[in-house]
Amino acid sequence: MNLEELIRDVPDFPKAGIVFKDITPLLANSEALVYCADRLAQLCPIDVKIDKVIGIEARGFILGGMIAQRLGAGFIPVRKKGKLPSAVISKSYGLEYGEDVLEIHKDAIKPGDTVLIHDDVLATGGTANAACELVEKLGGNIVQCNFIMELGFLNGKKKLNYKVASLLGY
Ligand code: PRP
Repeated sequence: MNLEELIRDVPDFPKAGIVFKDITPLLANSEALVYCADRLAQLCPIDVKIDKVIGIEARGFILGGMIAQRLGAGFIPVRKKGKLPSAVISKSYGLEYGEDVLEIHKDAIKPGDTVLIHDDVLATGGTANAACELVEKLGGNIVQCNFIMELGFLNGKKKLNYKVASLLGY
């Protein structure tokens, strides 16, 4: 399946000079959606039973839930500040301009849980790394971080201390 033709380049979004990789055409294609979820689940190490799949807000929720279903794992949302209703731990992380905060419920991961982190895109790696630090704080064992696509020229992989898998690279 040619996934690349289902990723739309949107120039000057969210600001001038940036070419945004829009996954909505891929998500809208039922075959591609199932294919991506199947492949990302298959890329997980087969010798470890994953307990929890983390999806990062917002676009990491979509495939994250589908991957969790395929792995027989639970789904855990990592959300932007102020969105989760119960007790949380927080981690701030750097953006191109300024910073943002990610949160996870304190009781979402039990010490020793095996965890897969999923998001749509790995760019600078700041977001995924913050999610990893939240999971580490709760005592989870991260098995892999996986993404639909990786913007290799931004070297996000270097920020992550874990195995990284992605379906597409740019
Ligand atoms: C995008 C993307 C990743 C993150 C990757 O999310 O979905 O989560 O950026 O960037 P990084 O590797 O440089 O940290 P965004 O912050 O736009 O949030 P959204 O999905 O809620 O729109």
